Amino acid sequence: MTAVSVIVNGAKGRMGQEAVKAVDADEGLILAGQADVGDDLVQLIHDTQAQVVVDFTTASVAFENSRKIIEANVHPVVGTSGLMPEQVLELQKLAARKKLGGLIAPNFAIGAVLMMKFAKEAVRYFPNVEVIELHHDRKADAPSGTAIKTLDMLAEARQTEPNHREEKEILPGARGSVQHKIHVHSIRLPGLVAHQEVLFGGTSETLTIRHDSIHRESFMTGVCFACKKVLDLDTLIYGLEHLL
Ligand SMILES: NC(=O)c1ccc[n+]([C@@H]2O[C@H](COP(=O)([O-])OP(=O)(O)OC[C@H]3O[C@@H](n4cnc5c(N)ncnc54)[C@H](O)[C@@H]3O)[C@@H](O)[C@H]2O)c1
Repeated sequence: MTAVSVIVNGAKGRMGQEAVKAVDADEGLILAGQADVGDDLVQLIHDTQAQVVVDFTTASVAFENSRKIIEANVHPVVGTSGLMPEQVLELQKLAARKKLGGLIAPNFAIGAVLMMKFAKEAVRYFPNVEVIELHHDRKADAPSGTAIKTLDMLAEARQTEPNHREEKEILPGARGSVQHKIHVHSIRLPGLVAHQEVLFGGTSETLTIRHDSIHRESFMTGVCFACKKVLDLDTLIYGLEHLL
């Protein structure tokens, strides 16, 4: 099997640097190029004839970068968080028109994918659920893409909703943010990488499902796997779980 040629976009960032190392070290992949702010990604795609672009940039440019990659007929592997559901849909339509495979994944860590899968199972029995996500203090967006995806999955799988009780926040925001009637809390501290707890409460029992990425290399098995897999797809998939 010939190696898949890959460009890393956002290559100077924390995730980008890890992706460059991982792609370079993977025998099934060739590091065709690296891009960051100020570089012409489309020109680089043209010059290198790369098959895949891995994007770890920032929320404000994630849509535009993904659109450029698809329009250049190159398979996108997007890890950048902050894409809105309607933007994901628009990118999926664009990729479908071109029959181009790709992946947008809020979390490339296998353990995080399993955390979401187990949480989806548990919410059928424990409809009282809250999410706490914890990240390093330089993360720009909140809540994390993983938390948003988890909330969507929980809402889809929850068969009954807990009774709503009147609450009063003494300090605004004390109960976090609410999506699909599920509270989500974001912690930002130096020393953290990427962590999430899904907490369930039942009758005299609680269940906590927790995942910890303790180094950014935890995401790279999923990134390299996706770079090879997207070549066999003809749609743009949202979530690594659909590829495993
Ligand atoms: N999917 C996952 O598994 C996962 C895991 C961790 C982080 N993330 C996400 O990945 C993204 C990057 O995280 P990070 O910690 O590496 O951030 P970072 O700030 O360290 O790096 C971002 C890089 O993108 C570059 N950049 C910005 N705009 C660009 C543009 N238009 N074109 C090319 N490069 C551009 C910046 O110069 C920088 O080098 C964030 O959205 C983060 O939430 C995803």
